[in-house]
Amino acid sequence: MKTQVGIIGGGPSGLLLSQLLHLQGIETVVLEQRSRDYVLGRIRAGVLEKGFVDLMRKAGIADRLDSEGEVHNGFDIASDGDLFNVDMKGLTGGDTVVVYGQTEVTRDLYDARDKLGGIVIHEAQDVTPHDITSDSPYLTYRQGDEVTRVDCDYIIGCDGFHGVSRKSIPSDVLRVFERVYPFGWLGVLSRTTPVSEELIYARSERGFALCSLRSRVLSRYYVQVPLEDRVEDWPDERFWEELKQRLPRAVAEKLETGPSIEKSIAPLRSFVAEPMRYGNLFLAGDAAHIVPPTGAKGLNSAASDIHYLYEALLKHYTEGDDRGLEGYSDKALARVWKAQRFSWWMTNLLHKFPETGEFGQRMQQTDIDYLKSSRAAQISLAENYVGLPF
Ligand code: APR
Ligand code: PHB
Repeated sequence: MKTQVGIIGGGPSGLLLSQLLHLQGIETVVLEQRSRDYVLGRIRAGVLEKGFVDLMRKAGIADRLDSEGEVHNGFDIASDGDLFNVDMKGLTGGDTVVVYGQTEVTRDLYDARDKLGGIVIHEAQDVTPHDITSDSPYLTYRQGDEVTRVDCDYIIGCDGFHGVSRKSIPSDVLRVFERVYPFGWLGVLSRTTPVSEELIYARSERGFALCSLRSRVLSRYYVQVPLEDRVEDWPDERFWEELKQRLPRAVAEKLETGPSIEKSIAPLRSFVAEPMRYGNLFLAGDAAHIVPPTGAKGLNSAASDIHYLYEALLKHYTEGDDRGLEGYSDKALARVWKAQRFSWWMTNLLHKFPETGEFGQRMQQTDIDYLKSSRAAQISLAENYVGLPF
């Protein structure tokens, strides 16, 4: 098989890039290790920056997002019983975010790929990049006993944190920066009316909690839990009780509880791999960087990589101009690091860190008091939350 751009990974990054390139007449093949049902069964975050929404529009797949996504003008920060609103729209001169689940984004992308007849090969095992520093790199994959070779101009690693592409970069070239946090998030999805129309990020003495939503009838809640905890340790009743204790009383009293329809625990990590290009292999999304979910930057950081990569590949194929490809790693990383800083800061602001003691708690409380009273501090928070320009 032969194509122009070989993409490893059929998550949001790989699918979005393949859709954008296809619309410009550039051929792609996407190799995905899992089945489509498996990919669509993953529940992930759901706050989209304007840049991401614009990219979905450019890819011609924003109809459902525009009709079903909920525009959010702000969010609340709660701390030990007190609560204030961050008016993102007012603070940024009109910018907002859209709440629309990543699972829905992925479904829309698959539908769009099907409609155009895009090639997405599922259950592709042992995907391996070859000759990545040559002008004729290729991929191989196996289905059953049959091994297939895909020749391409470029290989794009969109295969997430555990993928094969980053591992193909020699260890004396790749630099890794990492912070693993000493806790995780327990997330619950429930068919209940969300407690608030806007998100509530809550800091409390018992640890962090987040009230989010997927629609008017579907709520998504999280509580910070120790890394050792298992989902089995958290029957629904215990979850709801703990969530209530971490929210201001007026919010807790309004909370509608019900059976969970999904429950999972995710560890929190900050991670960046540099460079994001090696020869003719380019990394994008979770393959190159991970953020803790506190700032809702995971999917949005992936989208900014795809934006730069798409523009660079387009310039290469339409004008023979390779400057975008040459500058991709530096350009993408500059924005990636800013999203890292913001996610790290928000994580530090709102979570309970046992090791920082009472001094650390006072610092958090003071930081939140300052935010509440300073428009300048709120503007900084708001401009990062809605997303820095590409
Ligand atoms: N071969 C082929 N496919 C692979 C391989 C491999 N060796 N390893 C992983 N994959 C697939 C995974 O099954 C997954 O479907 O690559 C895909 C990567 O998708 P994601 O992990 O969703 O990463 P990405 O597309 O970059 O999406 C950005 O933003 O909010 C965050 O983590 C969140 O998924 C989200 C990400
Ligand atoms: C979510 O709705 O899943 C969500 C929202 C905001 C975050 C993280 C997760 O910061």
